[in-house]
Amino acid sequence: MFGFLTHRLPEDFFQGACDVHCHVLPGVDDGFPSSEKSLQALKAMEDLGFEKMILTPHFMKEYAGNDRESIEARFEAFKAEAAKVSGMELRLAAEYMLDARFVEHFRQGFLALDNDRHVLCETSYMMYEPQATEMVYEIMLEGFQPVIAHPERYEYASRENYTRWKDKRYKFQLNWLSLAGAYGKLALAKAHFLLEEGFYDYIGTDMHNLDNFMRHLNAIRLSGKDMDRVAELLENNKSLFR
Ligand SMILES: [Fe+2]
Repeated sequence: MFGFLTHRLPEDFFQGACDVHCHVLPGVDDGFPSSEKSLQALKAMEDLGFEKMILTPHFMKEYAGNDRESIEARFEAFKAEAAKVSGMELRLAAEYMLDARFVEHFRQGFLALDNDRHVLCETSYMMYEPQATEMVYEIMLEGFQPVIAHPERYEYASRENYTRWKDKRYKFQLNWLSLAGAYGKLALAKAHFLLEEGFYDYIGTDMHNLDNFMRHLNAIRLSGKDMDRVAELLENNKSLFR
């Protein structure tokens, strides 16, 4: 009867939560530019209730300097710095663009989200690239579990694409800010459709900037049913970081 009513996220919604996608590792991509800003973000996330964060810097041809070795060294240095001011548990993984350098990154050994070899992958937003689908399938054959980052943001993707990906058992990760309309009306509509149809497995902040994230997070309004659905995804996140 009151299905049209929407609500803010409850204050304790993120208590004990785990984030599985963010660009908080400083100075390595288009996310946080300095340790100082990254440490502010960790504190803000702790205030929200988060206890664990998986840092997922971009691995794509635009950031040619990001190879496994250099990113691991950067992470160790940041983790030591963070431990002085924050109790947040941190883990390093990566967000892999399915581009021309993907195979090279595969050969370096993926930085997976967890020990079960979940690998966070993204495609171009605008353009469907058939080789991207082939690459994802290849890594599945190698024993990895692809997790498609923010599928709602891919403008080219139709219901048919989503269904095909799901049939291949790729997992889907929703971005919180898609639910705030931060990436436009199409991504918002797709996020609701995919959420209501049960396509998603995980939910992530994909945080690049703290102020932008907090502003949009505060704008999210969800129906009771959608609130239950995102709570379930948040619970699933914990299975990646035990
Ligand atoms: Fe991302």
